[in-house]
Amino acid sequence: MIAGEEGILIKYLYLILMKNQLGNAKQCKNLIKKGHVFIHEQCIYDPYYLIKKEDKIYVDGNSINAHPFQYFMMNKPQGYICASYDKENPYLLQLMKEKDCYCVGRLDKDTTGFVLLTNDASLSKKLLLPQNHVEKVYQVKTKYPIFKNYKTLFEQGIIIDKTYLCQPAKLEMIDSYQCHVTLHEGKYHQVKKMFMSLSNEVVSLKRISFAGILLDESLQPGEYRHLNEEEMTILEKCLR
Ligand code: URA
Repeated sequence: MIAGEEGILIKYLYLILMKNQLGNAKQCKNLIKKGHVFIHEQCIYDPYYLIKKEDKIYVDGNSINAHPFQYFMMNKPQGYICASYDKENPYLLQLMKEKDCYCVGRLDKDTTGFVLLTNDASLSKKLLLPQNHVEKVYQVKTKYPIFKNYKTLFEQGIIIDKTYLCQPAKLEMIDSYQCHVTLHEGKYHQVKKMFMSLSNEVVSLKRISFAGILLDESLQPGEYRHLNEEEMTILEKCLR
């Protein structure tokens, strides 16, 4: 799979044809096998040909988009919901000109920071699978002091929603009211609930890293940019 212009994930030729609306998987594989598809001057008969960054694809002589998959990092502003559309609330897709993208996972309306946006459904699905344990790091500010024993309690697993035992999480103190929390799962309101279980309260939450990629702090709230090659490599490795 290849990423938009900047990425380096490699995708099969037939998937690129599908993303260009040239048919379903079977139809696209057939187009390739029957000799309709050229890369530069060469006819390619293998649907599983791996698209390279410099490849230009022609179907029956017409150029198609060889890099239709795009991956963006956004610094989510407060007050927006992670959705492609909403009747009542401002939503992240309003801030983008690439209207075919959607959010990989969700942050609460009042949470800020890293949101990955893409039009690559298969990558998004993989990143959200619980068994892939994709890492998320949050910067947390609390209403009451964070005690030293929180670290051990987070490591042992906090119980939320009365019965759910969270996977071990890492808590690193910044000061008495601030810490970093690293999770490998993503339950609804998880960080807030974890602190609630300890009779504390989250007053501000920002995701500073997702899948091993750090939030680019030069992005102002609401700004977004393509993931660069290094970040795409991190993403690729995280799913290996
Ligand atoms: N945990 C929360 O409580 N809220 C978020 O938005 C993300 C993680």
